Amino acid sequence: MSRLDSMLRRLSAQRDGLNWAVAQIAGHPGEVLDMGLGNGRTYDHLREILPDRRIRVMDRVLACHPSCTPPEADFLQGEAEVMLNHLANEGAQIILAHYDFGRGIKEEDVAEAARLSPLIARVLAPGALLVSGQPLVGFEQISGPDTIARDRYLFYRA
Ligand SMILES: C[S@@+](CC[C@H](N)C(=O)[O-])C[C@H]1O[C@@H](n2cnc3c(N)ncnc32)[C@H](O)[C@@H]1O
Repeated sequence: MSRLDSMLRRLSAQRDGLNWAVAQIAGHPGEVLDMGLGNGRTYDHLREILPDRRIRVMDRVLACHPSCTPPEADFLQGEAEVMLNHLANEGAQIILAHYDFGRGIKEEDVAEAARLSPLIARVLAPGALLVSGQPLVGFEQISGPDTIARDRYLFYRA
């Protein structure tokens, strides 16, 4: 598969997965966390489909499209370990988290996701949903929407 095809599959899986997750958390209180602001695409989508939720977004750099710049209070700028600990100490209750860290080098991305998993667990509300581009460790894997191949995007329940 070309990298273009692979990217298209990833982007549509993100969109379908996030849309699906929004329906799953309806009626459950809690905030949303987007791990990996990057260009701001998924953050922008979450803002659009969840206008009434607080959406925190994390990245070591602020390098998104200007139209996607998050409010200062919702942007957790720094290394994920530090920022996740900060959120946990604040008592955050995240009901939906999207994991989109990584730079396309599979072994490194998988190792980072495994290393961060216990820290992510600390910020989740009971029954929270995790939508992830990388395998996470210590959560129950569940089926996502039918439109997404099982290996393309991953879904977990805390
Ligand atoms: C694939 S991009 C995110 C794309 C974004 N969700 C979008 O839709 O535009 C991954 C981002 O994660 C950030 N990142 C990766 N590992 C990180 C870490 N350990 N701590 C903080 N940021 C990290 C990178 O700086 C990069 O901007």
